[in-house]
Amino acid sequence: MLKSTLVVLHIITAAAWFGLGLRLAGRARKVLDLGGEAGVALAADGQDSVRQMNIFVVLTLVFSLGAFVAGGHFAAYGPLYHTSVTLIVLLAADQLFVIRPGWNALQAAVEGGDVAAEAADSARKKVAIGTGMGHLLWLVMLVLMLWNQYLAAYL
Ligand code: HEM
Repeated sequence: MLKSTLVVLHIITAAAWFGLGLRLAGRARKVLDLGGEAGVALAADGQDSVRQMNIFVVLTLVFSLGAFVAGGHFAAYGPLYHTSVTLIVLLAADQLFVIRPGWNALQAAVEGGDVAAEAADSARKKVAIGTGMGHLLWLVMLVLMLWNQYLAAYL
């Protein structure tokens, strides 16, 4: 019961992180294209999404490691799940140390009216690279989750 609850919860929070991140790189570009008051407003709106992503990535980390431990941890699960333990830590680090500071820098740039500055563009790139890498890690974890039961049969 505990394990299945944690499994459902980690899927929901992982999906929320994934969905919230889908438009982030596009919004970062739009913030710089618009500049001015509209850019500032859009950057603030994006900041709300980034905060939610921070929460959802931490919840995914907690729930997924909880499901892993409740399901029998290293003794019960093989290398695919061991790899996922590492990848979720990397995903959380990507969110908290790449995407979050990237968006903070972007917001500071547009609020300071520096949308054409090199720092603004490098903040935008940081957000784009962070979300791209994060989505890739996420998809790899999904494949690892589904490998034994669903995907291995096709090979
Ligand atoms: C963020 C990416 C992740 C996604 C999208 C995801 C998705 C899923 C899905 C769809 C299932 C159900 C699979 C099935 O019933 O065959 C599942 C199960 C599970 N996941 Fe994840 N997961 C993710 C990350 C993780 C991580 C990092 C761990 C920690 C090792 C983890 C631990 C587990 C466990 C223990 C189960 C139950 C497996 C079992 O005993 O049947 N997940 N996950």
